Amino acid sequence: NTGALWGGRFGSGPAAAMAALSKSTHFDWVLAPYDVRASKAHARVLNSAGLLTAPDLEAMLAGLDALAADVDSGAFGPAESDEDVHGALERGLIERVGPELGGRLRAGRSRNDQVATLFRMWLRDAVRRVSVGVLDVVDALAGQAAAHPGAVMPGKTHSQAAQPVLLAHHLLAHAHPLLRDVERFRDFDRRAAVSPYGSGALAGSSLGLSPEKIAAELGFDESAENSIDATSSRDFAAEAAFVLAMTAVDLSRLAEEIVSWSTPEYGYVTLADAWSTGSSIMPQKKNPDVAELTRGKTGRLIGNLAGLLATLKAQPLAYNRDLQEDKEPVIDSVAQLDLLLPALSGLIGTLEFDTDRLRALAPAGFTLATDIAEWLVRQGIPFRHAHEVAGACVRVAEESGVELDQLTDEQFAAIDPALGPEVRSVLTVDGSIASRDSRGGTAPVRVAEQLAGVRARAARL
Ligand code: ARG
Repeated sequence: NTGALWGGRFGSGPAAAMAALSKSTHFDWVLAPYDVRASKAHARVLNSAGLLTAPDLEAMLAGLDALAADVDSGAFGPAESDEDVHGALERGLIERVGPELGGRLRAGRSRNDQVATLFRMWLRDAVRRVSVGVLDVVDALAGQAAAHPGAVMPGKTHSQAAQPVLLAHHLLAHAHPLLRDVERFRDFDRRAAVSPYGSGALAGSSLGLSPEKIAAELGFDESAENSIDATSSRDFAAEAAFVLAMTAVDLSRLAEEIVSWSTPEYGYVTLADAWSTGSSIMPQKKNPDVAELTRGKTGRLIGNLAGLLATLKAQPLAYNRDLQEDKEPVIDSVAQLDLLLPALSGLIGTLEFDTDRLRALAPAGFTLATDIAEWLVRQGIPFRHAHEVAGACVRVAEESGVELDQLTDEQFAAIDPALGPEVRSVLTVDGSIASRDSRGGTAPVRVAEQLAGVRARAARL
């Protein structure tokens, strides 16, 4: 029973299928560096509590450091006989400092409080790394917005031509949700910064150890107030899984647009060679795989969240082995974003916008009709009537096969006497855009303000 953490009351080792089912080293190995760090903190509190002499503590810490170095270099890894990362590392420690000393470390702790603590540590680091990647995407969006201060595009609702907007305004509309996601990660971290270490299996420890001291040493704000809750709840993992999934959903909305924008039918953007792929049969192809994989993997992150919540549902207190299923979905969500985020910032940062085409398309589909209506309102006409009149302009323009600004003065006057030739002042894309200068609006001064705001907010995060 080499390396097993239990076995005293068992007459035989586990059946092969039992051991295979139980095993988690193939995914919980990511916790190994955290496990060693926490073990060092634990060794120190054992020493403070009089359960480990000073020379023993020295030898233990040296053994743990040697183990950490071997884990790091790959010289030490999980063996076939190891059930999980915690058992494997105890085996590794015993190999380095002997069974007498190595066997002392486990006093006053359980894998239940260990794993709950280590997973929090891993996740807090992972989420910080993901946040940096998300901020890089925000940066790429802000960079494109800054590079195209005057570019316009067709703004859409229901995928139908709606009103012309600044390209920068549209790009920043994708930056805002991503900034909120990073803020959600920060918020998650405040709640995750509570250490379960010292909770034992569920009831706490009788050995006079200091959970507060370990918590502080491991970078937590405090130790858990309730050891049963600390060892059995995984809402911290579900919360992270949600923000990870939400981030992917937000990225997928941008990805979907990039897929469309890069088609010849749209012709809004050209993708850089480095961030697209070819076809094995069609030589002309340049495919938006980064965007498609973003869209596709989003389903996976949503599934990870839904699966984790289903695992947690209706679990009785306290620790249940079901909880071992908490790690793979979350680790996977992080791994997918680790892959996606650098590719997405690369893709976005190198998009080449066809600003002439975007300008030509901006007024198409009578997107200046609202400008006619609002112009009439400024002349004192009730909006209800103004809407009718602008709608009539669209009908006449459509029948005559022209754009709104090509209607003649006579046609305008025939539609409504209020439509003098001065209405033409709002029938340009730039005029329309400049007029929408309310806070958050598409006018260049507002968008410039917004760009500065987005950058300042990103810098604070
Ligand atoms: N590997 C387990 C997990 O990931 C921790 C071990 C707890 N096992 C136990 N029998 N109490 O949750």
